[in-house]
This record gives sequence, C-alpha cells and structure tokens, in this order.
Amino acid sequence: MSPKSINGSKNSWNINSNKLTKETIENMYGEGALECSFDEGNEAFVFSQSRDFDLIELEQLLQSVGWSQRPLRRVKRALDNSLLKVGLWRHDLKFPRLVGFARCTGDGIIEATVWDVAIHPVYQNSGFGKKLMVYILTSLKNEGIKRVTLFADPGVISFYKSQGWTLEPRGKSCAFWYSN
Ligand SMILES: CC(C)(COP(=O)(O)OP(=O)(O)OC[C@H]1O[C@@H](n2cnc3c(N)ncnc32)[C@H](O)[C@@H]1OP(=O)(O)O)[C@@H](O)C(=O)NCCC(=O)NCCS
Repeated sequence: MSPKSINGSKNSWNINSNKLTKETIENMYGEGALECSFDEGNEAFVFSQSRDFDLIELEQLLQSVGWSQRPLRRVKRALDNSLLKVGLWRHDLKFPRLVGFARCTGDGIIEATVWDVAIHPVYQNSGFGKKLMVYILTSLKNEGIKRVTLFADPGVISFYKSQGWTLEPRGKSCAFWYSN
C-alpha cells in the first residue's frame, strides 16, 4: 500500500496537550519527540524516534498483539539497520512504558517501507495508531522521502485505507515470495 496524503487525523484530541515541559520531553525522549496526550486524564504519551528500546520490552509489546517471539540478537540487528524506529511511550519520570511501535527500512533518500506497526491492546482504538502513522510519514517527509509502502495484514487494510493509503497494485502486478 502507498499513501495518498499524510495529513492529520480526524480525531479530536490534541496532539500537543502540554502535560509535559519541553525540557522533560527533550531530556527523556530526545530530539523530534512529540507529546500526544489526551486533553482529559492524567497520563501523558510521547512519540520518540531517539529514545533507546529495551529489546525485551519491545518484544513483549509485539507479542501482546499476537506476533511470535524473535531472537533478540536478530531484533537488535534489524533495529540497527532500520531507517527509522518510533516508540510511543506512556510517560513516567522513572519508568516510561513502551505502548506502541513501528519502524521503517529503506534507502534513506527515495523509498521507505513501514514494518511492525503495533499499539498495545490496552491502548488500541484511542487514535494512537493513526497518530503513529502521521508521525512516521511526517518524519520521512522531513527527510525528503515521499514514496512509502507497507504490507498490511488483511484484517487491517481498512485501518490504512481510511488514512488515504491505496491498495497496490489492485492484485495484478505484484508477486509475494516467501522462502521457507
Ligand atoms: C492496527 C493498529 C496499529 C491500529 O492502532 P489503533 O491505535 O487501535 O488505531 P486507531 O485508534 O488510531 O484507529 C484509527 C482508525 O482505524 C480503525 N481501526 C483500528 N484498528 C483497526 C483494524 N484492525 N482494522 C480496521 N480498522 C481499524 C479505527 O476504528 C479508527 O477508525 P476511525 O478513524 O473511523 O475512528 C492496532 O490495532 C494494532 O496494533 N493491531 C495489532 C497489530 C497489527 O495488526 N498491526 C498492523 C500490521 S500491518
């Protein structure tokens, strides 16, 4: 699938609701981090492409959405070789918790492909997945990358379609080959 537009979501909650100071966000989550808390409620959430991941926590998140366990050594290498890794963190001064994730591979100039998009089940259907995609596409666009693809599981095609992604190539000129 490839995106038609990367414009924001129709969710009404505020992506910069300023529960956290700029200093806290930068110190804990690094450059380019973005708060995306709900207006109501006490919890604060932050997207970051700089904060390091605890590999065990990351794998636990991905397993919580039903994906199988992968060797941590290989996961680390895959992350090291990725163009962009984005975490969604439920803020805590001592122990921020990873509740969302996605990463991109690519050439860094023209093309990128999005992988491993996941929001922890507890936080699904709150608008985070959509915000995560906007954050990723904006980050890629800022790097000049305009052509972005992803492989959607059949059950989530409408999630991407509703954000302007188009189904390619209408089942005609694409082949998938998996080696066993
Ligand atoms: C798919 C996923 C990332 C969506 O995250 P989310 O935070 O629950 O999604 P949002 O709350 O931002 O939903 C945005 C919109 O997509 C819809 N949506 C959410 N999950 C959907 C799904 N699985 N299928 C179809 N539509 C979905 C929502 O209803 C919402 O619609 P609306 O804008 O009309 O209200 C999340 O459900 C998830 O992690 N699923 C398991 C892992 C997975 O399948 N990842 C995708 C691999 S290709």
